[in-house]
Amino acid sequence: MAGSDQKLTAKLVLPDSKEVTLPVTVGTEDEHAIDIRNLRQETGYITLDNGYMNTGSTASAITYLDGEQGILRYRGYPIEELAEKSNFVETSYLLIKGELPTVSERENFGRMLTRHSLIHEDMHQFFAGYPPSSHPMAVLSAMVASLSAYYPDCLDRNSPMDLHITRLLSKVRTIAAFSYKKSIGQPLIYPKNSLNYCANFLHMMFAVPSEDYEVAPVLEKALNQLLILHADHEQNCSTSTVRMVGSSGANVYASIAAGILALWGPLHGGANQAVIEMLEELRASGGDFKKFLDDVKNKRDNRRLMGFGHRVYKNYDPRAKILKKMCDEVLAHLGVKDPLLDLAKGMEEIALRDDYFVSKKLYPNVDFYSGIIYRAMGIPTNMFTVMFALGRLPGWIAHWKEMVDDKDTKIGRPRQIYTGHRVRKYVPIDQR
Ligand code: CMC
Repeated sequence: MAGSDQKLTAKLVLPDSKEVTLPVTVGTEDEHAIDIRNLRQETGYITLDNGYMNTGSTASAITYLDGEQGILRYRGYPIEELAEKSNFVETSYLLIKGELPTVSERENFGRMLTRHSLIHEDMHQFFAGYPPSSHPMAVLSAMVASLSAYYPDCLDRNSPMDLHITRLLSKVRTIAAFSYKKSIGQPLIYPKNSLNYCANFLHMMFAVPSEDYEVAPVLEKALNQLLILHADHEQNCSTSTVRMVGSSGANVYASIAAGILALWGPLHGGANQAVIEMLEELRASGGDFKKFLDDVKNKRDNRRLMGFGHRVYKNYDPRAKILKKMCDEVLAHLGVKDPLLDLAKGMEEIALRDDYFVSKKLYPNVDFYSGIIYRAMGIPTNMFTVMFALGRLPGWIAHWKEMVDDKDTKIGRPRQIYTGHRVRKYVPIDQR
């Protein structure tokens, strides 16, 4: 928790030489922040920080991230350890509740997720209304917002939150799989209570009524790991959106739907799809790395090396490190040989030796290798961002809950510096 009893202060000298003393807040990992909450009231000044590069929007006890050292921990547990030893349901519990569950807590949580996996039958008709070419992120976000119509008690902030949280975690998985089935014209496959969370998702994605489907343990394990790696990343664009929307008092389904839409962008969660499209394009054009990287470095058509760079990591993204290793293991286990993996590795090797990427501290991020694993698992490219959303869901929920429970929460409402016209007289249309 941020140390409110810290005696540290910072001094700010304004253009008129007036000095202002500002309190300093220190986090548990010794992160320092200058608290400017009273700045405008005392001085008339605001701070300007495009893209919130240096702005802390909240104190949070959920995730610790050190981008310089490449450290990521959920509730204090290193991501490497969780990916190896935990599963997605347990990690979701950890993020949302703050502690790892006991055996009975975990069983109970799993039972609740199983019980709430069906969606209202009327919602099936929504899927029928979308054109087959619909992007599954459009369907997913609309369906999640629609859940608030089926559970109207969510409009009352005092309604049992655990139930809404369980519904979201369980039903988003069903909606995601249904949106895929709809896109390929196959019948929707209902969830099966005998299966664990990830196995159940794979069953809904890949089973068909006409034949038996056995969930391969290697796929179930890979999915658990992938979802754990995506489960939270502190105040990123979509999580900040969830907090911002929720700060107005909007219900949890509406807030999460907004987060899903923020995630869709290619600079955020949409990058996993963009990486595969980029590698496909590179392969189709003969695999000329040099020309491709020259285009990127010269910013030709605003081209970027997708899956590289991160606002906070100025070192190798620890998630990308795990995923690169996982990529080799999963593909070998499945006997899949994907030429895109060789292209990605070749591209990484060259980029990490190139002065442009080195000087800007651009390393592979979580999206660089995840798509290749999803491809090997049989998940189509346009579903990759949906998979990211499924993984990020417990993080969004944990932040939403933390925001609601925090007595210091205020509606999110940044200021601006106005650069438009000064006051002028209205000109009637016949005089323009
Ligand atoms: N390829 C080429 N140049 C890049 C890249 C890239 N992937 N990323 C940043 N740069 C350059 C950028 O052009 C700029 O150069 P200059 O100083 O000459 O103008 C400089 O590096 C700083 O870039 P920025 O856009 O100001 O940095 P940012 O912190 O605002 O952007 C980012 C972070 C993730 C949006 C960016 O690195 C990017 O666009 N990466 C590609 C998209 C991607 O992979 N996104 C997934 C992020 S990880 C998953 C998630 O959490 O969302």
